[in-house]
Amino acid sequence: MENDTEVQKSLRPKSFAEYIGQESLKEKMSIYIEAAKRRGGSIDHILLYGPPGLGKTTLAGVIANEMGANLRITSGPVLERAGDLAAILTSLEENDILFIDEIHRLNTTVEEILYPAMEDGELDIIIGKGPSARSIRIELPNFTLIGATTKAGLLSSPLRDRFGVSHRMEYYTEDELANIILRGGNILGVKVEKDGALELAKRSRGTPRIANRLLKRVRDYCEIRGDGVINKNISIEALEILQIDSVGLDDLDRDIITSIIENYGGGPVGIETLSLLLGEDRRTLEEVYEPFLVKIGYIKRTSRGRVVTDKAYKHFKISKEQDDE
Ligand SMILES: Nc1ncnc2c1ncn2[C@@H]1O[C@H](COP(=O)(O)OP(=O)(O)O)[C@@H](O)[C@H]1O
Ligand SMILES: [Mg+2]
Repeated sequence: MENDTEVQKSLRPKSFAEYIGQESLKEKMSIYIEAAKRRGGSIDHILLYGPPGLGKTTLAGVIANEMGANLRITSGPVLERAGDLAAILTSLEENDILFIDEIHRLNTTVEEILYPAMEDGELDIIIGKGPSARSIRIELPNFTLIGATTKAGLLSSPLRDRFGVSHRMEYYTEDELANIILRGGNILGVKVEKDGALELAKRSRGTPRIANRLLKRVRDYCEIRGDGVINKNISIEALEILQIDSVGLDDLDRDIITSIIENYGGGPVGIETLSLLLGEDRRTLEEVYEPFLVKIGYIKRTSRGRVVTDKAYKHFKISKEQDDE
């Protein structure tokens, strides 16, 4: 299990029993799955949205597993033409699960293929060009579409409306993250003490993917500098070197906050401007960094742009006086 993608795979929960947290979601899904199994049918189309790393792809795998169904994985940007999606749809088997990641990035012509497929289990395709072109209709097997997106707001309403279930993924609590880290420690074969797991959990930005990443980095540190056991002290030492602060913020988070303060007196400032100022991709700022800064109350979104809050000034020990108007 030396290679990183292997480790990644082994850390991915395969059943609801292993999937930590998201209790209301698991309960809801278990009921749908049970009901679908009794009917011998498939479950309703599901839309999962929320920041990256919260377990959307993992959940699709768990659902397929619990249903005993095949999982087909693709993503919005990969499906360039209507034919790409049509090829996948026509190759599905009864009750398969089709997972489309970044579904907000589907282009319209591809999206339009999806509507009748989701609603009536039909595929309308046009064969040929010009006057000899004709449209044929193909019956599709029953299938469940699971769509995942970091930006539910970018989904067109006809697409959104065709999902029977729509669920917003929540950030995880520190206890849940600590359990994810303890579980990860078991899988990786490294001893993690409870206080070590909690220390890492506090700095994982509510996100399982980050929790697992920190666990791996701290394990490396611990093998070289410690005695192989991840406890609170060694975690604090390692995270200091990784430049991850007490609430899990890294260099870019710090840059975001300090550049709004230094250049715009704490805001408001638009996301475009911020993206230019930091030389960072707008999408990364909006979908990865900002949601967590908003969640912990360091940034407020207003109609005029982003504003740094008093809480953030305090955390970064920056005095606000000179900015008062
Ligand atoms: N509920 C969970 N319990 C345990 N581990 C999880 C959970 N959700 C996610 N993970 C871990 O976090 C990683 C990232 O999850 P992933 O499903 O890829 O997130 P997303 O698709 O939302 O970006 C997974 O590889 C898995 O190891
Ligand atoms: Mg994913």
